[in-house]
Amino acid sequence: MKIEGSFYPPGDKSISHRLALMSLISRGACEIRNFSSARDCMTSLRIVGELGGMVRIESERLLIRGIDRRLKSGASMDCENSGTTIRLLMGILSPNHGDFQLDGDQSLRNRPMERVAIPLREMGANIICSEMGKPPVRIIGSDLHGIEFRLPTPSAQVKSAVLLAGIQTEGQTSVVELIPSRDHTEILLRKCGADIEKTQSGWSVRKSTLTMPERYYVPGDASSACFFICAATVIPGSRVVARKVLLNPTRTGAISVLKRMGADMETLIHHGADSTHADDPGEIYGDITARFNGALKPFEVSPEETPLLVDEVPILALVATQATGSSVFHDVSELRIKESDRVQAIVSQLNSMGAHLETRGDSLYIHGPTKLVARNNMESFGDHRIAMTLKIAGLISDSFPKINDEDCIGISYPDFTDTLESLVK
Ligand code: S3P
Repeated sequence: MKIEGSFYPPGDKSISHRLALMSLISRGACEIRNFSSARDCMTSLRIVGELGGMVRIESERLLIRGIDRRLKSGASMDCENSGTTIRLLMGILSPNHGDFQLDGDQSLRNRPMERVAIPLREMGANIICSEMGKPPVRIIGSDLHGIEFRLPTPSAQVKSAVLLAGIQTEGQTSVVELIPSRDHTEILLRKCGADIEKTQSGWSVRKSTLTMPERYYVPGDASSACFFICAATVIPGSRVVARKVLLNPTRTGAISVLKRMGADMETLIHHGADSTHADDPGEIYGDITARFNGALKPFEVSPEETPLLVDEVPILALVATQATGSSVFHDVSELRIKESDRVQAIVSQLNSMGAHLETRGDSLYIHGPTKLVARNNMESFGDHRIAMTLKIAGLISDSFPKINDEDCIGISYPDFTDTLESLVK
């Protein structure tokens, strides 16, 4: 079995969330092409509607109209599995008048929200989280004031929440990030006409009127594409081309790691950040080609590099099981508080297939190369990225194992299985 061919990943999930949610505080209307089909992004769209926004899905495009009036409040809004939805909404809603309640599924109810509530409260926000600082979250909108906030851990979601509150607040709001994380909020804010500035060690915003771009093309999701790119590097005889994939440097950490491993890869940029297309996203995108060469070396990923590949750790760990030598991620602490404890999930599931993964403190070690043998009842823990990693692990072991709760893949990549079937030869 090998994988061969080209594919288009869905529109980027992080960017799609931001387009949907920023319409709540913008005027104008936007015609979006390639908006993500991910269940998480549908959750954001539904909540935009519940808050009074106007969203229309047509075959090839999504029409979204900014709201420049008071947001509707009242019933609790269900953010389902989506951490980006709830955390960005906390920032967006805090300076808006109303009483808002945000909740989620069992996984989201286990994820920390105080990391967002703390800086927002420092700005004057009235936010009540449940016991242990988790959802449900209640926000009673109030007038805020600008602050300077130093991010204690790199997190694009926390940074975005503070900037999205700051853009609606008198005075200056600055975020200092010692380790950079994805910057799609900053790029989109600039595109909407915000007063936003890159500082020496972060970002600074002032109260602005935002206007949605008239047209916007969402580049392909870098994290989704990575599953098949990684598969091609470890399955003999494979070659895949991922088309129109986001190549923003804050998202290409996994590509850099694969290149360091000696993988046979090429990246062809065909749209720069300075393009003048009518629906230009202000983001870089292009094609990524990956081929099997059977010569993968181990890698070392520093804590500074982790935010640039935070969602790709499970699939990179799988690639590391096929490299000759020991690979290490030096700080995987953030992985323990994603949709599942991804460290525990990946260690237990890959080891049960014969791999050698171990944790020491906050580091994750993978000792390769190992032959993988699929088991029948693999556990996804309801986590889309774990489920997709196990599907690719099945391909390496030349079988299609049964994965519990496999439907969770739709949370980020509804067409994953169809694309997989079209590439398997
Ligand atoms: C995201 C940021 C990351 C990432 C998540 C999406 C975003 O989370 O893991 O899947 O869209 O801002 P953190 O910012 O919490 O690291």
